[in-house]
Amino acid sequence: QAVLTKNFKVPRNFRLLEELEEGQKGVGDGTVSWGLEDDEDMTLTRWTGMIIGPARTNYENRIYSLKVECGPKYPEVPPNVRFVTKISMNGINNSNGMVDARSIPILAKWQNSYSIKVVLQELRRLMMSKENMKLPQPPEGQTYSN
Ligand SMILES: *[C@@H]1O[C@H](CO)[C@@H](O)[C@H](O)[C@H]1NC(C)=O
Repeated sequence: QAVLTKNFKVPRNFRLLEELEEGQKGVGDGTVSWGLEDDEDMTLTRWTGMIIGPARTNYENRIYSLKVECGPKYPEVPPNVRFVTKISMNGINNSNGMVDARSIPILAKWQNSYSIKVVLQELRRLMMSKENMKLPQPPEGQTYSN
C-alpha cells in the first residue's frame, strides 16, 4: 500500500544518486559536467561542477570550475554555488565567486525539479547573454583564494 504524505518531497539522497549517475555518464555535448568532490562523501553534499565557456563570447575556450553544495534540504532549497575559477559576470561576487541566488532567476525561483545540471546549463547560458558576453575577463587560470 502506497504511503501518501500531504507535502510530497523529493527524497534527497534518491535524487542526488540519480544526479551522480547522470553526471558519471555525461550529458549532451559535454559543455557542462559535475560530480562529487569526494567519492567517499556519503552525505552527497559537496560537488564540483565544470563549464566550458561558450564560443563567440569572452568566456570562449576557458574551463570554469565551480563548487556546488547541496544542503540537507536539497532539492527543496537550491544549492549554494560558487565559481572557483575567476570570472567577471553579472550576479557573481567578484571577491569570492559566490553566485548570488537573487540575481540568477532559476535560483531565485527554484523548483525541486531543477538539478545541478540545470544550474550549470543556466550559468553557461547567461555567459552568452548580451550583458555578459563581452565583459572583460581576468587573466586565464586564476582562482578565488577562499
Ligand atoms: C561579496 O561577498 C563578500 C563576502 O561574503 C560580501 O562582503 C560582499 O558584500 C559581497 N558583494 C556583493 C556585491 O554581494
